[in-house]
Amino acid sequence: MRKPFVAGNWKMNKTIAETRDLVSRMSLKLSEISGVEKVLCPPFMSLLAASALLEGSGIGLGAQNMHWEEKGAFTGEVSPAMVKELCGYVILGHSERRAYFNETDEIVNRKLISAQTFDLTPIVCVGETLEQYESKLTREVVSRQTSQSLRDVSPAFAARIVVAYEPVWAIGTGKASNGLEANAVAKDVIRPALAGLFGEETAQAIRVLYGGSVTSSNAAEFFSQPDIDGALVGGASLKIDEFAAITESAAV
Ligand code: PGA
Repeated sequence: MRKPFVAGNWKMNKTIAETRDLVSRMSLKLSEISGVEKVLCPPFMSLLAASALLEGSGIGLGAQNMHWEEKGAFTGEVSPAMVKELCGYVILGHSERRAYFNETDEIVNRKLISAQTFDLTPIVCVGETLEQYESKLTREVVSRQTSQSLRDVSPAFAARIVVAYEPVWAIGTGKASNGLEANAVAKDVIRPALAGLFGEETAQAIRVLYGGSVTSSNAAEFFSQPDIDGALVGGASLKIDEFAAITESAAV
């Protein structure tokens, strides 16, 4: 039985002051919802403020990225040790990181191995571009991203990994995929790739989320699918009622 999981990816939105306001109001609402693992991922600058406000709330805190090295001469980067001081989770390989910051599967994999070392629960993103989707390359692309980004970690750690299937064409576009199509990718592409890495039992234990224009109107369609265990939410995670409604509909 996989516990449902909903994470809010705030991306590059909200100052520290705005984060304090949003987190305090949001946590009041989210705390009332049980039966789902809840995680907020504000920008690095706001993690300290958010962590203080979330203490004891049962709501997890995640970073949106990190470097793989513990420390050193990497100007402008944030290390896993720094993330670990405040967070239990980290998003890795988001398509915006892959597209704008040249993150490859190899880089995502280094970060994943580092997450294992620093005992952080990773939310690893995979998903095809519009061009790949239209060329019917979804299966090939998502299978490769999954196999290469998630390799070389222990099966015990693997069971903790959360995979987010986020078709790039659905992110921030208002054009979500649909439940059946997303479920088919989770079931026939992502889980077999996970089974190839870690064995069938672990593949069945790993949570697979859908992400891309999730709203309170379409969330239930995704959550009713047997191989989709929750959502990674972008835009709608900045709206308290929307995000609470999405979280509520994932709860069991
Ligand atoms: P969106 O973003 O919900 O705004 O489409 C999802 C994501 O990028 O994780």
